[in-house]
Amino acid sequence: MLHRNLPSSLKQATVALHTDHDVEKDTSVSPPIHQSVTYLTENADDFAFKAQEPFNDMFYARHGTQTSSRIAKIIAELEGAEKAMMFASGMGAITTTILALVKSGDHMIAQKNQYSASASFLSKFLPRFGVDVTLVDQQSLKEFEKAVTPKTKIILVETPVNPLMSLTDLKLVSMLAKSHNIITICDNTFATPINQTPLNSGIDLVVHSASKYISGHHDLLAGSVAGTEALLRQIWDASMDLGPVAAPFNSWLALRGIRTLKLRIMEHNSNALKVASFLEQHSKIGKVYYPGLSSHPQHDLAKSQMTGFGGMLAFDIPGGYDAGKSFLKNLNICQNAASLGGVDTLVIQPAVMFKARLSDSEIRDLNITPGMIRMSVGIEDINDIVADIDQALN
Ligand SMILES: Cc1ncc(COP(=O)(O)O)c(C=O)c1O
Repeated sequence: MLHRNLPSSLKQATVALHTDHDVEKDTSVSPPIHQSVTYLTENADDFAFKAQEPFNDMFYARHGTQTSSRIAKIIAELEGAEKAMMFASGMGAITTTILALVKSGDHMIAQKNQYSASASFLSKFLPRFGVDVTLVDQQSLKEFEKAVTPKTKIILVETPVNPLMSLTDLKLVSMLAKSHNIITICDNTFATPINQTPLNSGIDLVVHSASKYISGHHDLLAGSVAGTEALLRQIWDASMDLGPVAAPFNSWLALRGIRTLKLRIMEHNSNALKVASFLEQHSKIGKVYYPGLSSHPQHDLAKSQMTGFGGMLAFDIPGGYDAGKSFLKNLNICQNAASLGGVDTLVIQPAVMFKARLSDSEIRDLNITPGMIRMSVGIEDINDIVADIDQALN
């Protein structure tokens, strides 16, 4: 039987390649897709045991699959967590995690700026089940402190976040939460564990839209949560009832994508910093928002809690809606499409995107200007990205 002893302290790039592979069970170098929904049991007692066993990935696919266990193991290791679980989407991970931990009468705190579907879940869905949510300015510890009540169960944060790539101080928020016995959850989608490991700052649970950087190629929908075995056990129980589990094929694609996470993120980090610096010098651009720029108001915090600044940035085109729209139209390499975190550079004009469902003043309250462009900088050659932006502006 093949056997190998992996060192216990592998670096992130190696973790993504080797940590999930048990060569005693499977000698294939590239992982198989375990598509079967159900597995043989030895007898009725074995069946009964496996049916109850948490995280069993060889009983029935809603309980877990071997393919999703493999990517979950990598994410857990990268985030420094005891355990992780995969979901059908980022929203599947976020909603199941929250629903697993709250009951009617509980209270939650979250940021005013956060991913739009998380915001809608908190403001429209949860109150129907008796869970109140207070939204606070992510940059003000005072607002977090003021919002705490004896019923506060969860603080949900997201950093960096749209549209201004603003940050939440993870250490301060987690210290506050710990002193009140509150569970903290961080959406780490923009940063990824290569640039930021919230658990090391005292956060309890980390969620991802694995549809983004984790998988990295705009070709699947998946989500994850990572944290202690005890919390994951509660989330697994809820997931048994709710059923938002990751499909084996998507887990397999995500597994293929995460192998190159470190390499891709280093390139995203480097390209985004160069694009941000180029834009900051450009005469036709207003403000540029990127945590890696020394002009970013929270650059010091970025340097202290992130090891790289990510691939996401935003900038203002002074001419408003029309100038923003014609900029997008003139781009040839950077493409106007939803989502982020993949190898291709994608751009959106948030004000136009939100115009259908929000008033002008609501858009302004989100700090979105009419000509603002959000860019997920890809891994194309940096000279081609910059040239494309330059010609579109000119
Ligand atoms: C920060 C963040 N969190 C969560 C989600 C939701 O992820 P999914 O689309 O995989 O459900 C997204 C999607 O864009 C996101 O950007």
